[in-house]
Amino acid sequence: MVQLTLPKNSKVEPGKTWNQPTGSGDWREIRVYRWNPEDGKNPRLDTYWIDRSKCGPMVLDALIKIKNEIDSTLTFRRSCREGICGSCAMNICGTNGLACLKSLDDYKGPVTIYPLPHMPVIKDLVPDLTHFYAQHRSIEPWLKTYTPTPAKEWRQSREDREKLDGLYECILCACCSTSCPSYWWNSDRYLGPAILLQAYRWIIDSRDEATGERLDNLEDPFRLYRCHTILNCAKACPKGLNPAKAIAELKKLMVERRV
Ligand code: SF4
Ligand code: SF4
Ligand code: FES
Repeated sequence: MVQLTLPKNSKVEPGKTWNQPTGSGDWREIRVYRWNPEDGKNPRLDTYWIDRSKCGPMVLDALIKIKNEIDSTLTFRRSCREGICGSCAMNICGTNGLACLKSLDDYKGPVTIYPLPHMPVIKDLVPDLTHFYAQHRSIEPWLKTYTPTPAKEWRQSREDREKLDGLYECILCACCSTSCPSYWWNSDRYLGPAILLQAYRWIIDSRDEATGERLDNLEDPFRLYRCHTILNCAKACPKGLNPAKAIAELKKLMVERRV
């Protein structure tokens, strides 16, 4: 039989329990992945009890309450609290999502929170997105033009502008890429759904004049073609976008330019 050895620090140990319920209250159990690179210990799952009657309705409200009132060492990212910045992306009860858009009422029983899967962890719920952002930079996410800059603005018809709907709304939260099995195993070379959706967003922008070189940049067995249409990405997107569709359109453009 094959013997597999798990990497050091990969086993999540049971952790501490904080704020055990005392007396009456609407108590809810929140389990949170904790890992501190500086203490040399394995990750652990800490349990926090919060009184719902004294907490806001969302998962992010619970995390903020824990940090403010129970355990100030808990580390997570957040900013806008309204699904715009993408920084509170995490794995909640097994599904990636934005903590500020997920209600505690969406879950039955304990709410278990891990960082986004298959990303290196900086601390607790904070994933290291350096590689993800470098991949975004690699698709040159800005308007590229070669004709002389117009005196006023680059104009776009209403119809051409509408082609960007379903793409421009992406907040680069990485929920889709970190739910994609192909990205888990090949993220060193496969760009993943979020970045490919962004690539498509620039390719179909009628004002952009670098379509050919953008498609050349994707002509590679890994960067684009590792998508196997598993569709986890569309299910995971908190903005209701469909990266798999954008990837299919990219593949179609690749075929069309060959004939
Ligand atoms: S459709 Fe493609 S990008 Fe989306 S989850 Fe599946 S393999 Fe990943
Ligand atoms: S496509 Fe959706 S899930 Fe993916 S990065 Fe953009 S907003 Fe997040
Ligand atoms: S805090 Fe900005 S998306 Fe959740």
